[in-house]
Amino acid sequence: MHTLEVKDLHVSVEDKEILKGVNLTINSGEIHAIMGPNGTGKSTLSAAIMGNPLYEVTQGEILLDGQNVLDMTVDERARAGLFLAMQYPSEIPGVTNAEFLRQAINARRSEEDKISVMDFIQKLDEKMAILDMPEEMGERYLNEGFSGGEKKRNEILQLMMIEPTFAILDEIDSGLDIDALQIVAKGVNQMRGENFGSLIITHYQRLLNYIVPDVVHIMMDGRVVKTGDAELAKVLEADGYKGLMEELGIELEATEADK
Ligand SMILES: Nc1ncnc2c1ncn2[C@@H]1O[C@H](COP(=O)(O)OP(=O)(O)OP(=O)(O)O)[C@@H](O)[C@H]1O
Ligand SMILES: [Mg+2]
Repeated sequence: MHTLEVKDLHVSVEDKEILKGVNLTINSGEIHAIMGPNGTGKSTLSAAIMGNPLYEVTQGEILLDGQNVLDMTVDERARAGLFLAMQYPSEIPGVTNAEFLRQAINARRSEEDKISVMDFIQKLDEKMAILDMPEEMGERYLNEGFSGGEKKRNEILQLMMIEPTFAILDEIDSGLDIDALQIVAKGVNQMRGENFGSLIITHYQRLLNYIVPDVVHIMMDGRVVKTGDAELAKVLEADGYKGLMEELGIELEATEADK
């Protein structure tokens, strides 16, 4: 079993504290969902886990199987088995989707164990078929000119090709049509297994009907304020954040530290 532990994580962007002590443990085999109002720090959490240098960790720890992730570069984190599907995937002109995927797969393998061209093509065809993606998407430059939904689907293609240990999926459902949502969910569900764990950031309960999470966290103002099972997302959908805040007695006024 593998574990990804986030302990008392504080993260600042340009000297403003965004995460104010996040605690979270994901075991492989589990899918966690994280929900929360806009601007509460969900994408900041994912950026900090992946090692985006804009996000400064001022306190706390991130451990992958007990190993300190904060000392690793982005590349090292990816090789160690972390993966992030970004909320806004970047376009990389000049690098085809297939080239990118082959390099990403090989980066996680030793010199003697590189994937053969044949095996790669076979795997790519198989995963693209599952995701109902047209063949030419492989030869297009990475994300360049992809529609919003195509980008999201392509993030799941990367997930299925790279087969990370832990995947953070940041709003993988935004901008997807109804059929695409089910296809993307199918891709994530195929990844489920004892050697895979995921943190799914979403605003909508709808995705969680297709990818049923083991654990749901609610994040507000830079902290995880409530953790529960899949039912929690349904309660939230019904009551909204305002209802939840009242229940928890939370006031989201600026604290001394914010001023
Ligand atoms: N690179 C950055 N530069 C400046 N401010 C940032 C940066 N990244 C995040 N922030 C700020 O940090 C706060 C949290 O942003 P974040 O993107 O983590 O929110 P979120 O919970 O993912 O919101 P959403 O649901 O809208 O995606 C926001 O106030 C945002 O403006
Ligand atoms: Mg976000």
